[in-house]
Parts: sequence; C-alpha cells; structure tokens
Amino acid sequence: MSPHPIDYADRWWRNAVVYCLDIQVFQDSDGDGDGDMQGLVSRIHELADLGVTCLWLMPFFPTADRDDGYDITDFFAVDPRLGTLGDLVEVIRVARAQGMRVIIDFVMNHTSDKHPWFVSSRSSLDSPHRDWYVWRDAPPPKPDPPVFPGEETSTWTKDERTGQYYLHHFRSYQPDLNIAHPAVQEQIERNLGLWLELGVSGFRVDAVPFLFSNADHHSSQPVGTDYDGAEHLRSLQRFVSRRNGEAALLGEVNLTHEQQLAWFEAEGKSSGLQLQFDFVSMQRLYLSLVRKDAGPLASALRERPELPEASQWANFVRNHDELTLDKLAPDELEEVFEAFAPDEGMRVYGRGIRRRLPTMLGDDRAVRLVYTLMFSLPGVPVLFYGEEIGMGEHLDVPGRYAVRTPMQWEPVPGGGFSTAPAGRLVRPLPEGEFAPDRVNVADQRRDPGSLWHHMQRLTTLYRDEPALAWSTLEVIGVRQRAVLGHVCRGDGWTMLALHNLGDAHESVRLEIASEAGPVTLGDRFDGSSITIDGRLEIDLDPYGWRWLTVAPADAVIKRV
Ligand code: BGC
Repeated sequence: MSPHPIDYADRWWRNAVVYCLDIQVFQDSDGDGDGDMQGLVSRIHELADLGVTCLWLMPFFPTADRDDGYDITDFFAVDPRLGTLGDLVEVIRVARAQGMRVIIDFVMNHTSDKHPWFVSSRSSLDSPHRDWYVWRDAPPPKPDPPVFPGEETSTWTKDERTGQYYLHHFRSYQPDLNIAHPAVQEQIERNLGLWLELGVSGFRVDAVPFLFSNADHHSSQPVGTDYDGAEHLRSLQRFVSRRNGEAALLGEVNLTHEQQLAWFEAEGKSSGLQLQFDFVSMQRLYLSLVRKDAGPLASALRERPELPEASQWANFVRNHDELTLDKLAPDELEEVFEAFAPDEGMRVYGRGIRRRLPTMLGDDRAVRLVYTLMFSLPGVPVLFYGEEIGMGEHLDVPGRYAVRTPMQWEPVPGGGFSTAPAGRLVRPLPEGEFAPDRVNVADQRRDPGSLWHHMQRLTTLYRDEPALAWSTLEVIGVRQRAVLGHVCRGDGWTMLALHNLGDAHESVRLEIASEAGPVTLGDRFDGSSITIDGRLEIDLDPYGWRWLTVAPADAVIKRV
C-alpha cells in the first residue's frame, strides 16, 4: 500500500476499475433469451470479486433496436425487455452495497427516427418539435462525411413529406438533435437529473465532438445562433455536479491527443469531461503488437499531453464497437488488418476489426501481457464484459454485434447466460475453442492459473497503489525493440514497468542510481525485492513483464 494519504473520496473516478456491460447479453433471469436487470443483480457480487469498482451500463432505454439501443425512443424509461425503473434502482443499490458505482450511457446526439419528438418534428414545417432537429432546404456544400461508410452515403437525408433534409451523423434512422435549442437543452438536464436522482454516479458521453460541435448546422437554426458547444458541456458538468457532487463525465472523444486536450480544458477552464478514452494509444498498441516493436506505442505515450488537475485518461484495449484503427496511417492500418483480421469478413467500415483480443493475438501469454500493460499505465482501466475470461467473437453475427455475444458464465448449454433454447438467445454463443464449455467464468474462478485470476490480480495491484492512477508517465528507451519501459512517479512513489511485446526472451540493462545510496526494487507480482547499487540486468520471458517499485522514489533510471 502506498503510505501517502491521498484524497480520492470525491474523485473516485481517478482510480476506478470500470467494467462495461450490456444488460441484454449479460444474464437472463427469466429464461426468455434476453438478459435483464434482475439477472445483472444476481451477478454483481462476482464483479465485485473481480475488483471492479464502477459499472458502465450500455443503453437500457426503450429503443427501436436498430443500433443495439443507441437509437432511443424514450430517454426517460427502461426498455421493458430489460426491466423497470425499480429494477434499475435495485441494480444501483446492490452495486453500491458491493462497493461499486454505476455510470450510464448518455446518448443525446440523436434519437431514433421512431422517437415521438422526431415523429412530430418531421410531420410538418410548423410542428412544435420541428427545430428540435436540424433541418435544411439543401445539404451544406461540404457536409461532414458519414460515420459509417458503406451504410450511409451522406449525413443529410431528404424527408419527402416536407421536402427538407435532416442531419444525421450516424445512420439515417438516428436523426441528430438540435442541442442548441433551449427546449432540447432543458430535456437534456431533466434527463441527466432523473438518472442522478436514481443514484448513478456519472455518464459515458457518447460521440462528444459531434454532440457539442459548433458546426454551422446549429447556426442554421432560428434559435441558438451563437451556440458554444464547449460552454454548453461545461454548463452540463456544473449541472450534474450541483445535483450530485461526485458525478463524473467520461467522454468518447476519438481525436488526437492534442485535440483531446481542448475537450479536457478550454481556455484555462475545465471542459467538463473528467475522463476521456485514450483512442490513440489503444490503436498504436495494436501496431506495436503486430511489429513486436514497442516503438509505436512508446511514441503515443510520449505524446500524451500533461492533463489538467481534474482530468484522467481511460485506458482500454477493446470496447463494444469495432476496433477502430482510424488514427493509423493507411499502410499501418493494412499491417494490422493483415495480421489480426486476415479475412475481409473480420473487417468493417474500412477502418475497424470486429474481433476480440484473444482471437486476434492467438496466444494466451500475449493476452495477459496486454492487460498487464493496460493496468500499468496512469489512468483508469476500462474492461469490456468477457475480457476477464478471454471471450472470443462470433463472426456469423453481423457487423459490430460479433463481439457482443452473451456473457459466458458456465460450461453448459446457454453458457449459464440463459436457460432458453439456443434458437431463442438474443445472440448465438461462439462455438469451438471459444465456446462456453472452454471459456467461462465458473471454471476460471476455480482455477488459480486462469486469465480471470490474472485480471483479479491486476485489479488488486492497481487498487493497492492509488498513486499509479494519477502518476506521471515517462517512457524510457531500452535497447530491446520489443520492450516497453516506463516509469510512473507520483506522491513520493515510483514504479518501473517493463513489458515485452515480443515472443522472444529479452534481457534489459538499466542503470538505476540514487544520490542517497543503494536502491531497492520491489516486485509487485511475486513480492520479492533486491537492492542494487548502479547497474541492473533484468530478464523478461516471451511476453513477460516486471512491475518494480523503486525506493528511494527519486532514483534516476536510465538505459545503458
Ligand atoms: C457508440 C456506438 C453507436 C454510436 C451511435 C457510439 O459512440 O459507441 O455503438 O453506434 O455511438 O450512437
């Protein structure tokens, strides 16, 4: 344990272990083939046991169900297939009782086209909801490109009834709300207020750069001509903190590190996002893995800007969407595609992969290495359900849904997810090597050598060292291309981490010196320690790692 008192009671999100799940595929309590909130309640203690401290619930609202719940028809209710508002409160209560907070998806960039607001808006030019969406006589000369190439050709669609075009950054059935409109802004606050009152501790804000863009589509409206997205986000942050002092916003901002900085803090003022996913480092990690060369990841980490005080990175390896590689150069993207998605059917939108990590890497040692590395980085680790046991995907399931198959709890038909016959499951379970009889929570919890136990170890080590989460990160050059060396320093605490991204043994030489005399290195995994005076040679297994705390903390670490 770090001996230093750290104030994290009101900044719980600075060193949380976040676990993202979709209720519909997590646990079915009534055998109808769909997961539900009561099912989730029955599994929460297992997530607590894993060391999770924050659940991120994917959308659970009534939906037209064409984008897995991201096409909402009522922001103020629960999808009846999943439960009731009462069931949601029970999820939050039980999670709290097990030491976990709950955050939820906030998806107000758009609604479903079946949402009553849009049904009204499109009905006539003078509908009271007309300006709740973004309408124009013709698309602008340079429209934004669609987010899903191949599925949409434009971000503007003509609506025959009124002859005008409406904006949709995502699909044509997901019309963008005009959030410059005061009535829409009021609905947003009402909505955030509802969930905060029910006990959630924050929101994962979907599609931030679209939602809060100042683009001229807002100023084309009769209202909100001087709309300022960053200011609006700040005011929402103030609003949520007034309602609940601990509430945090985790933003989906897939931009460069430099551009992300503006979403953390604009003109010296906090933008309102406490957390943002680090998409750039995630993408470069894959390039490093393909090349067995830590270089691409090292350069991404070196470019990470220093963050303002109340800000934090969210580190992740996979999420519910395609593994987007849009920030890589075209030849780099091709390299990753060839190695990890050799078949065309594994790719999507020309920029992403619809697979989970273990099937891409094909080596359990590499999988463990990747998660160990993720937990060793300053920031908050975010797991996607099933990662803790190394679930695979089901490529017969269309598009991005391939990685959203039911959670695998037990080695039984239905995977312990549901007692419904296979044909009635919301989505099929993978077969073969990644089927529930080979990959499941129950077996792995009984096996101390399992990936599940490794993950539990990582959450424990991460939580044991609160300083790690908000330490500074320094990448140190080592001579071995495959090895990433980095030093985390904070609060009088220092950790040297070495991760071997290759499948060969490596021997790393470093000089570690302190003016105060000998230096002691403590291995965080096996508890051993050694005291050295100067040079050190450290052997790393293929895909091996070491996390070494360094005392005294001000020791200087250099390559030799
Ligand atoms: C979500 C996607 C969704 C899109 C549109 C994204 O940020 O992660 O799953 O399709 O928003 O709501």
